[in-house]
Amino acid sequence: MNILLTGGLGFIGSHTAVEILQNTNYRVIFLDNLYNSNPLTLDRICEIANNEKVTHKCFSILEKDKLEEVFKNYNIDCVIHFAALKSVPESISNPSNYYQTNIIGSINLLDCMVKYNVKKIVFSSSATVYSDHLPPLHEDMSIKLNQTNPYGTNKAMMEKIIEEYSRAYGINAINLRYFNPIGAHPSGLIGENPKKELTNLFPSLMDVLKGKKEYLHIFGDDYQTEDGSAERDYIHICDLASAHLCAVRYLNRFKGCIPINVGYGYGTSVFKIIKIFEEQNNIKIPIKISPRREGDLPSVYCVPDKAKTLLGWKPKFTIEDACLHAYHYFSNQ
Ligand code: UD1
Repeated sequence: MNILLTGGLGFIGSHTAVEILQNTNYRVIFLDNLYNSNPLTLDRICEIANNEKVTHKCFSILEKDKLEEVFKNYNIDCVIHFAALKSVPESISNPSNYYQTNIIGSINLLDCMVKYNVKKIVFSSSATVYSDHLPPLHEDMSIKLNQTNPYGTNKAMMEKIIEEYSRAYGINAINLRYFNPIGAHPSGLIGENPKKELTNLFPSLMDVLKGKKEYLHIFGDDYQTEDGSAERDYIHICDLASAHLCAVRYLNRFKGCIPINVGYGYGTSVFKIIKIFEEQNNIKIPIKISPRREGDLPSVYCVPDKAKTLLGWKPKFTIEDACLHAYHYFSNQ
């Protein structure tokens, strides 16, 4: 089986590639223009998996002719579509880029799938599509296209577009709704290493460790939560990666299009996760209480039952492991 990973050298893509190469005999075709990833990651993936059944094509999903060449030359059986721009603030200041890459690029990919008769896709969606629904978040909740920022709208629109392509062209699709992936591969060889500055919690924490930031700002300590800081459903990146392989296997028998949550199913507050990070790694993180960040919700966590019952997904790690592995990767750099 040949599997195409768009954005396969990024944070989630690289860990998913390891999972696939370690556990299957599939050939992995990476399509990654290195906009926010590093070519060395490919060597690291092969080293961890001890498997070199890989090909890397370096161009954007906006280059439709080249995309077609890939479908023409490799007999693609399944696509995992990670490639996307993912900064919420940047999507607000530059929506054009976000609609181009995240919508037009994705449609290019879907059109190639239709043309070359590729019937399986796993799409990287996000918890952001639930907008202000109250947790625990369940896949049956209604999703609105009109989100609070273009990044969120892109994800909600793509879920809808994939659903319509599925109905019209018989493509079978799983829209994985990611909660908050953190951590790194236990080997310390791959992890979250973006070229673009990210404002998410763990990248910001790493910036403090690197000395790029003096403090980790805690965005709000006056939420209606147990300790006043916001809660998220953090998940070890390797557990998120394994959900993709479960999804690919499920697509061998599933027909249609469904959304599936991937999270641990409970919230952890910002204060609590920093405490876990400090305890696991025996270090102190300087923090500063700051005002709430616009658009942030007090509490976000999911019901992950579908991932478990339908996909047979079993998480193997904990948030403690994620904190340990994130620091191990950081120290290895
Ligand atoms: C954010 C996006 C979400 C997107 C996801 C993708 C916003 C409002 N939401 O989710 O749409 O799908 O990233 O990665 O941008 N925090 C701090 N200090 C920091 C950074 C974060 O206290 O320096 C807090 C936040 O307030 C939040 C938690 O940490 O409570 C997690 O933040 P983050 O990692 O940015 O993820 P989300 O906000 O859940």
